[in-house]
Amino acid sequence: MTQGAHTAAGNTPAAAAVDPLLDVDGVTLQYKTKEHLITATYRVGFKVYPADRFVLLGPSGCGKSTLLKGVAGYLKPVEGNMRLKGVDIKEPGPDRVMVFQEFDQLLPWKTVKENITFALMNGGRCKTQSEANDIAMEYIKKVKLDRFEDTYPHMLSGGMKQRVSIARGMAMEPDILLMDEPFAALDALTRLQMQEELLQLWEDTHFTVLFVTHSIEEALIVGSRILVLSPHPGQVKAELNAHHLTHASTGDPEFGELKTKIHNMLFADRILEDELAAAAAEAEG
Ligand SMILES: Nc1ncnc2c1ncn2[C@@H]1O[C@H](COP(=O)(O)OP(=O)(O)O)[C@@H](O)[C@H]1O
Ligand SMILES: [Mg+2]
Repeated sequence: MTQGAHTAAGNTPAAAAVDPLLDVDGVTLQYKTKEHLITATYRVGFKVYPADRFVLLGPSGCGKSTLLKGVAGYLKPVEGNMRLKGVDIKEPGPDRVMVFQEFDQLLPWKTVKENITFALMNGGRCKTQSEANDIAMEYIKKVKLDRFEDTYPHMLSGGMKQRVSIARGMAMEPDILLMDEPFAALDALTRLQMQEELLQLWEDTHFTVLFVTHSIEEALIVGSRILVLSPHPGQVKAELNAHHLTHASTGDPEFGELKTKIHNMLFADRILEDELAAAAAEAEG
């Protein structure tokens, strides 16, 4: 694999002679309920390259989770297409593993290690239990949970549970790790720590991740590239480079400028929405 070539060099996609790992092209995703047809995203396009930490950033309800569900293969686009390594995404598969925000993603009756070995055996990544054990321990160490391998989930803190979910996802060695606001339910300090650890893991293995958040700061810290989405229905507002930013840069003028720029992009929409709502109310009344 040529992992790292694209982002490590800080190249723009056009300059890199690498095929996208994930190609989302003009994708409209909808939900059909009994009474309504809800358009969650409208003609969204982006390309994720190997070793990207690609962030989908936008306000709540703009369709970030829906996009992840599409990439994971649970939802088919009504328009456009999604390809992984050049092949149309038709169904879920072990080449795309999802990590969620909720702390209850682990099987409560299995230990930390068993949660991971179970996924490895069931996902077809391992043929023997001893191979699964070895891989599980390798990733448990990576997320600094050795000593807790035989512990049951209910004994762990929220942050530790998320580490197990991340270890399990990474152990499956998917082509792309899909993370849906994985740190949103953690306290502020643990959240910072988890962002830091995720970046350390990335330094270690250069995995590819599609990361969803509604926090501008988290997007800048975690992301190498950021896709800014407009409010409902989600449309692409901009794509930004943030590969050089980490926690250490939060005090830099550039960090602040980017933060303000994104904030204004998202806020501009809200002002427009408020104006439209006010105009509609006026017209009605
Ligand atoms: N299962 C569903 N059925 C109907 N509408 C849904 C469903 N899931 C999400 N939506 C709607 O789709 C839009 C996008 O939702 P979602 O992708 O969850 O946004 P985000 O993750 O950015 O907060 C929202 O308007 C939401 O109400
Ligand atoms: Mg969501």
